[in-house]
Amino acid sequence: MNIIFMGPPGAGKGTQAERIVEYYNIPHISTGDAFRAAMKQGTPLGIEAKRYVDQGLLVPDEITIGIVRERLQEQDCEPGFLLDGFPRTISQAEALSGIVQAMNRKIDFCIDLLVDRNLLLARLTGRRICKSCGATYHVMFNSPKEEGICDKCSGELYQRSDDTEEKVGTRLDEYLNKTAPLLDYYRTKGILRQVNGEQDIDVVSANIQSVLRGLTE
Ligand code: AP5
Repeated sequence: MNIIFMGPPGAGKGTQAERIVEYYNIPHISTGDAFRAAMKQGTPLGIEAKRYVDQGLLVPDEITIGIVRERLQEQDCEPGFLLDGFPRTISQAEALSGIVQAMNRKIDFCIDLLVDRNLLLARLTGRRICKSCGATYHVMFNSPKEEGICDKCSGELYQRSDDTEEKVGTRLDEYLNKTAPLLDYYRTKGILRQVNGEQDIDVVSANIQSVLRGLTE
C-alpha cells in the first residue's frame, strides 16, 4: 500500500500516520520530521531548512524532492510507504509521479483530512511532541497520562518552534496557496479520498481504514 496523507497543518496527518503505519507495517515518511532531525543535528541540510521552517515557509522543492527520492529507494519501502506532508507543491507531485513510475509502483490513495481553520490553530498551539520517540500529544485533546512525559517511552515532551500563532498563520497561507491546488491534481487521477478530520482520533482512524480497505469512497 502506497499512501499520501494530505491536509493543512494540524489536520492530524502525523497522529493518524502513526496508527496506519503500525497496522500496515510500512514506513512513515514525514518530510517535516526529516527537516527537524537535520536541524537538530545541525547538518548542512538542517541549516538550510531552518531558514524556511522557522518562518513557516515551504523548503525549496529541489531540496525536498531529493530527500524523498533517496528515502523511497530504501529497502523498508518495498512493502509500501506512507508519505506525510509530501508532496506539497505541483512540482513535488510531478516529481513523485516520476519516482514511483521508475520503481514500477503507483500511489494507491491520497487521503485528505478536512479540518476547520480555527480548530487547526487550537490543535497546533496545544500540541506537544516527545523528544525521544516523536509521539504526538495535545494538552487538551490527547493529553499524556503524566503531564510533560511521553506515555510510550517516558521521554520529555516539547513544543515545536513553528507552533506559535504567528507561524501557524504563515503555514496555513502556504498550504492554501501552494498545497491545496494538489487536491484537484489527485482528484483527477481518481485517488483522492476526503475524510472528516474533526472527529475523535479513533473515529478518524476507523474512517481512514475503511477507505484504505476500499469499503468507502
Ligand atoms: P510538517 O512537520 O509536515 O508540518 P505540517 O504539515 O504543518 O503539519 P503538522 O505536523 O503541523 O500537523 P499534522 O497534520 O501532522 O497534525 P498532528 O497529527 O501533529 O512541516 C513542517 C515544516 O517543514 C513546513 O512548514 C515546511 O517548512 C517544511 N516542510 C515539510 N514538508 C515539506 C515539503 N513537502 N515541502 C516543503 N517544505 C516542507 O496533530 C496536531 C495536533 O492535534 C496534535 O496535538 C494532535 O494530538 C491533535 N489532534 C490530531 N488529531 C486530532 C483529532 N482528531 N481530535 C483532536 N485532536 C487531534
